[in-house]
Amino acid sequence: MSKFMDWVDARFPATKMWEDHLSKYYAPKNFNFFYFFGSLALLVLVNQIVTGVWLTMSYTPSAEEAFASVEYIMRDVEYGSILRLLHSTGASAFFIVVYLHMFRGLLYGSYQKPRELVWVFGMLIYLALMAEAFMGYLLPWGQMSYWGAQVIISLFGAIPLIGDDLTQWIRGDYLISGITLNRFFALHVVALPIVILGLVVLHILALHEVGSNNPDGIDIKKHKDENGIPLDGIAFHPYYTVKDIVGVVVFLFIFCFIVFFFPEMGGYFLEKPNFEPANPFKTPEHIAPVWYFTPFYAILRAVPDKLLGVIAMGAAIAVLFVLPWLDRSPVKSMRYKGWLSKIWLVVFCISFVILGVLGVLAPTPGRTLLSQVCTFLYFAYFILMPFYTRLEKTKPVPERVTG
Ligand code: HEM
Repeated sequence: MSKFMDWVDARFPATKMWEDHLSKYYAPKNFNFFYFFGSLALLVLVNQIVTGVWLTMSYTPSAEEAFASVEYIMRDVEYGSILRLLHSTGASAFFIVVYLHMFRGLLYGSYQKPRELVWVFGMLIYLALMAEAFMGYLLPWGQMSYWGAQVIISLFGAIPLIGDDLTQWIRGDYLISGITLNRFFALHVVALPIVILGLVVLHILALHEVGSNNPDGIDIKKHKDENGIPLDGIAFHPYYTVKDIVGVVVFLFIFCFIVFFFPEMGGYFLEKPNFEPANPFKTPEHIAPVWYFTPFYAILRAVPDKLLGVIAMGAAIAVLFVLPWLDRSPVKSMRYKGWLSKIWLVVFCISFVILGVLGVLAPTPGRTLLSQVCTFLYFAYFILMPFYTRLEKTKPVPERVTG
């Protein structure tokens, strides 16, 4: 075996890569609950790719047959229903895991210097993931697939001058049709997965270049032993590979429970109108995107003007990209930041959740007002950040991790 590895290593850096990224990658020893979600995001990504490949074997991407082919997968293909529900539940699980992963970043300032690129690559993954989920949702060709896509694509029509041509270019037709379905299929199964995989590699390479942050937000490389190993670091493998298995088991337990017993999640993971085939002549009574898009959908609806709404929705996502440059705090972790940062993070999270709930519900004047207040608070968190992070009094940061 070792002779074989010598042969390989002379031609390909297999052992070097194993050591650089696993057995000799020293991660802070105080990782907590929130550090499970990076490896869980990887697990869900693999789940989506594997189940997606098998679904593609029996799915037909045409307007005439798509809906029936999904029914065929659910009823006749061996293990088809499990494959499909692993994939549809996996989509929601992906966003739950990624939102918790991003929240960890906000909590411990993981986006701050020198991890700005880790964050930016993460944001690009998030954008690609949203596009991937949006296009995947058209594929079952149900009522909500059709009308959801109709609402979102028509938003591009609000752009002055080029709006109409642009929507037509995206659809490839004068209305959403089999042509749109075909191109979304190509992007969903080939183009975007490649982009996402590439970005995940860049994300992890960027992280391993600078090393992981931790709940104390301190640099473990400041204190090293005589061999140059950080005193507060432990080898990723075996310590964190084994620890991550615990997270994987707990996650799979909950995930499989949902897949087997509540795959529709009361209409949140699989929406009820999507059990009816797409019908361009019948608009569903209430069109709402899947839950993971609803905070941004609520921001869109909070603004009375269509174009300004689209701009606000885009800005809500774009502002996350520049977060590393908005936070001027001398400390990273919430543990040592002042009250203002803590209060604003809570306000931001509550506003995001309320927007998410409002985005599911039909608008009423009261709800629109509430969504306007929450949109205001959402943006205030970012816009005021350079001020409150600089003004507030921070706590002294310990030299070594506290556990
Ligand atoms: C497919 C989606 C993603 C995958 C597979 C992924 C994977 C990972 C992994 C394996 C780690 C190292 C382990 C950990 O710290 O938990 C990590 C760290 C990190 N990720 Fe992601 N990630 C994804 C999406 C995102 C997104 C959307 C963001 C934010 C916009 C993000 C921001 C970060 C940051 C800031 C770190 C460093 C955390 C620290 O050192 O404290 N990631 N990611």
